[in-house]
Amino acid sequence: MATEKSAVFIIFGGSGDLAHRKLYPALYRLFKAGMLKDHFAVIGTARRPWSNEYFRQTVITSLEDFDDDKRMMENFAMHFYYQSHDVNDSDHYIALKQLASKLDDRFDTEHNRVYYMAIAPRFFGTVAAHIKSEGLKTDGYNRLVIEKPFGRDLNSACDLNDALSKAFTEEEIYRIDHYLGKKMVQEIPNLRKKNPKFDEILNNKYVSNIQVTLGESLGVEDRGGYYETAGALRDMVQNHIMQILGVVAMDEPDVMDAKSIHDIKEKLFASLKDLTPDEVSKKFVRGQYDTDEMGKLNPYRKEDKVEEDSNIETFAAGKIEFDNERWSNVPFYVRSGKRMPKKSSRIDIVFNEKVADLGIRANTIVTLFIEPDEGSSILINGIDYREVKQNLIKYPEDPEIFDNAREAYESLIIDILAGDKANFTLWEELKSTWKYIDVIRKQWDEESPKFPNYLSNTMGPDTADTLLEKDGNSWIWN
Ligand SMILES: NC(=O)c1ccc[n+]([C@@H]2O[C@H](COP(=O)([O-])OP(=O)(O)OC[C@H]3O[C@@H](n4cnc5c(N)ncnc54)[C@H](OP(=O)(O)O)[C@@H]3O)[C@@H](O)[C@H]2O)c1
Repeated sequence: MATEKSAVFIIFGGSGDLAHRKLYPALYRLFKAGMLKDHFAVIGTARRPWSNEYFRQTVITSLEDFDDDKRMMENFAMHFYYQSHDVNDSDHYIALKQLASKLDDRFDTEHNRVYYMAIAPRFFGTVAAHIKSEGLKTDGYNRLVIEKPFGRDLNSACDLNDALSKAFTEEEIYRIDHYLGKKMVQEIPNLRKKNPKFDEILNNKYVSNIQVTLGESLGVEDRGGYYETAGALRDMVQNHIMQILGVVAMDEPDVMDAKSIHDIKEKLFASLKDLTPDEVSKKFVRGQYDTDEMGKLNPYRKEDKVEEDSNIETFAAGKIEFDNERWSNVPFYVRSGKRMPKKSSRIDIVFNEKVADLGIRANTIVTLFIEPDEGSSILINGIDYREVKQNLIKYPEDPEIFDNAREAYESLIIDILAGDKANFTLWEELKSTWKYIDVIRKQWDEESPKFPNYLSNTMGPDTADTLLEKDGNSWIWN
C-alpha cells in the first residue's frame, strides 16, 4: 500500500499541453494508487480566465482516454483549483499565495509545496524570483520542478541557474529529464548491481563500443517553431543522451543514494574527453530529413513554422569518449533523429573477443530496449536471447510518446514527493555537458551544411555510418 503524501502543487502553465498530457494523468495514477489521497491540492495557473469548474472538466477530459471510472476522476478533480495569473504581475502572486495557504489548511498539507514550471523557459527565472519576493515559500518543503530545456548553451544555462539560485537552493531544485524516469533506464543500476559479472565486464578491457540511439519515426509535427530554436543536438543529445550515458558509464556507487550517484556521475561527466573545434567534423555528423522515397512526406524545410532554408539538424550522431580509467579508448556512439524507420530508444553494448577468457562468447552484444519495447537481449553468435516486453501502446500522432512518458512522469513525481533527487539532473552535470555540446554547436553554426541529406524513413545520413566504419565498427540497429 502506497504511503500517502501531503502537498499543494502549483502548476505554472496549468492550462498547457504538458500539464494535460503528462502531469494530470500521472497525478491521477498516484491518486488511484493511494499515494495522493486526502492531503493534496493542485492549483493550475495561466492567463486565461478559467473557473475552477471549467478547469476540473479539462482535467477530467485529459484522463478519459485511458480511464472510465467517472467517480474516481470526479473525486480527483475536486482537489483542483484554478488561479488566473500572469507570471509578470506581482499582485497575482499574492492571490496565489492566499489560495495556496487556504488549501494548505483545507487539505492539511503540512505546508509542503511543489512549484512546477510547465511554462516557457523564458519565464522560469521570473516565476522563481516572485515566489521568493512575494513570500510564497513556507515552513514545509518547497520544491521547484523545472522542465527542459535548461538553457540553450552554457552561458544561458548559467544565467538561468543564477536566477533560480536566488530563490531556491540546489537541494530544492528538481530538473526533469524524463528519460531518467523511464523504467529501463532506472533498471540499469539494478541490473549492474544484481549481476556483478556484467558490471565486472563493463569497462575498456572487455567493451568494444557502446551505442545509444534515441530514434523517432515522426517528424517535427506541429512543433516546428520550437524545433527551429533547438535542433537534435540541443533537444536530445545535451540532455537525454548524456544522462543515459551517465547511467550506463558511471562507476557503481557504494551506496545507491542520490548523493553517491550524483557524485559519481559528476566525476564521469568531468572526465568527458575534450573536443577541439577541428575534431568536431571527424567525430560528429548532422542531418536534416527530406521527403520519403515516395515523395509523400514533407521535408523538414516544408514543415509548418520552419524556414525554407533552415539549417537546423533533425539528426545528430557522434562519438563521445571519456578520459578515465574505466572507459579510455572505448567509443560511445550516440545518435538521435527524427523520421527514422521506427521509433526506438535503445542501448547496444558490444563486447570484444577478450570476454571469451571469462567463458562468454566473443563479440557478444547486450541490448537494452528503453522504448517502445522494454527489456534486454543478448546476441551470441547470431542467436538472440530476448527478454523483451513488447509494448503494445498505440502512439497518438505526436512526437512525444504517450504511455511510457506518462509512466516516467509518475515515477518522477513520486521521487519529488519523497525528496529523492537520484533521477534528476544536477547543476554540475549540466555544466559539464553544456560545455561539451557548446564546442559542437559553435562549430556547426560556423559552417553551412548541405541539407536536406537523408530521406525520411531511413537511418539518417550516410555520414552517420562512416563515422563508425572509420573505426572498423557499425551500428547494431541498422
Ligand atoms: N509539451 C510537452 O510534451 C513538453 C515536453 C518536454 C518539455 N516541455 C516543456 O514544458 C513547458 C511547457 O510546455 P507546453 O508544451 O505545455 O506549452 P504550452 O502548451 O504552450 O503551455 C504553456 C502554458 O503557459 C501559460 N502561459 C503562457 N504565457 C503565460 C504568462 N505570461 N503568464 C502565465 N502563464 C502563461 C499558457 O496559458 P495561457 O496562454 O492561458 O497563459 C499555458 O498554460 C515548456 O518549458 C516546454 O519546453 C513540454
